[in-house]
Amino acid sequence: MKTVYITGVSRGLGYALALHYLSNGWKVVGLGRTHAIVHPYYTAIELNLLHRPLPKIAVDTDAEELVWINNAALVGPIGYLGSEAVGLNAINDALQVNLNSAIELSHQVITQIDNYRGQFTLCNISSGAGRNAYPCWAVYCASKAGLDMFSRVLDMEWKTVGKSNFRVFSVAPGIIDTRMQQQIRQTNPNDFPLLERFKNYHADGALDSPESVAEKLFRFIQRRDEFSEVTADLRLVGN
Ligand SMILES: NC(=O)c1ccc[n+]([C@@H]2O[C@H](COP(=O)([O-])OP(=O)(O)OC[C@H]3O[C@@H](n4cnc5c(N)ncnc54)[C@H](OP(=O)(O)O)[C@@H]3O)[C@@H](O)[C@H]2O)c1
Repeated sequence: MKTVYITGVSRGLGYALALHYLSNGWKVVGLGRTHAIVHPYYTAIELNLLHRPLPKIAVDTDAEELVWINNAALVGPIGYLGSEAVGLNAINDALQVNLNSAIELSHQVITQIDNYRGQFTLCNISSGAGRNAYPCWAVYCASKAGLDMFSRVLDMEWKTVGKSNFRVFSVAPGIIDTRMQQQIRQTNPNDFPLLERFKNYHADGALDSPESVAEKLFRFIQRRDEFSEVTADLRLVGN
């Protein structure tokens, strides 16, 4: 069977992705602190991405096709660096969940699939915030920019060693109606000058549903040979 591994499956995009893959006949391995899916082809792996080092996750190297999606993330801390809104613990937690854990898990996977001959796709969920600077999002922006660069380097490495069955993407999914957006709208106005813009996205119905983004990302990965760039913006990818 085809198997996808997804981090952060309790809600939002990760949850919608897991359901979408299941409905398309894939085996889904969800990695997270909380699990909301019960399905014969769903395996729940208890994983807190804040733990260091992360436990070893065994990859199903008999799968007909493998996809690994580093999706889990924290948007916080939001605030001016150096202000009280930005604590050291929050900085380290966001870097750990958004970037360090994604690199560590990717390393774990790659060490296990050296002899894998099927199609392997590593998909890091990035953000427009990794490509554009937003005030008061220094840590989030830096972590997503880090994911983009990490992905570009991996792509280069796989081309260098001739792993033509391996592909990596860093995908900005657009703005999605999830708890992360709720959290952004709840920020203290003194800690985020763009607050009104994000409130307006919601009020104007500009947010995509997690289901529609999951469907688009699924199709993007299915059509991976059509895309040569490592970094992608899902809103700019045609159907
Ligand atoms: N929403 C947007 O507008 C938007 C825009 C651009 C990019 N993105 C990206 O899209 C991805 C999904 O975001 P979302 O909006 O769906 O966010 P979300 O609703 O806040 O969901 C985040 C997920 O990450 C998991 N997570 C957080 N900390 C974790 C930890 N320590 N260990 C394991 N899992 C953890 C959460 O699980 P728990 O239940 O364990 O907390 C949850 O399932 C993220 O990479 C985000 O940066 C989102």
